[in-house]
Amino acid sequence: MNFRVRAATKEDCKDISRMITELAVYENMPDQVEISHKELERDGFCQNPFFQCLVAEVPEEQKSKEGFTVVGYALYFYTYSTWRGRSVYLEDLYVMPEFRGNGMGKGLLCKVAEVGKKEECVRLQLSVLDWNTPSRDFYAAKGAQDLTVSEGWHFIRFDGQNLDNLANEAPKD
Ligand SMILES: CC(C)(COP(=O)(O)OP(=O)(O)OC[C@H]1O[C@@H](n2cnc3c(N)ncnc32)[C@H](O)[C@@H]1OP(=O)(O)O)[C@@H](O)C(=O)NCCC(=O)NCCS
Repeated sequence: MNFRVRAATKEDCKDISRMITELAVYENMPDQVEISHKELERDGFCQNPFFQCLVAEVPEEQKSKEGFTVVGYALYFYTYSTWRGRSVYLEDLYVMPEFRGNGMGKGLLCKVAEVGKKEECVRLQLSVLDWNTPSRDFYAAKGAQDLTVSEGWHFIRFDGQNLDNLANEAPKD
């Protein structure tokens, strides 16, 4: 199957938004998605973008059953390790089911690694749900280390009221 991996443009945000929802359905958390293509356009295509995105695209003659040619994406952003320095965090990696097994997931992942290396990143990190063994196996097959297993890290989040509470207790300037 022919495909190419390219940097996403603002015009891709509707496709990316659609696939974000598809990934959330796959992850059994469709209700968690609260953003639309509008926020993606605002946050990814402003002067200091909050994220970068690559898309996998097939030629028109190989479009999906529903008529889509943008059939996969990798959304990432830069972080910083106080131990190792520049890092890249892969927030989402997704290929539509009918296009899996054709090297697109690998192509997207490798491209993120290449872009990160160009920016002198020394790490590519991501989180994956514990039951998602196909993807855990996919990453393991590419050489990834499971930090929860090897080092015992937990993934921690503040949001909603808990985040409000923290912010409200910040020292006054
Ligand atoms: C994970 C995902 C992106 C992989 O994409 P894909 O296009 O199907 O994978 P590819 O065809 O690029 O596979 C590339 C390589 O990984 C291997 N691979 C794919 N799935 C694998 C698995 N479950 N276990 C081990 N290896 C696997 C392939 O054999 C291939 O090996 P090769 O490089 O030696 O040829 C895709 O399955 C997907 O979108 N899954 C659902 C969403 C998801 O779970 N995303 C990750 C959330 S963190």
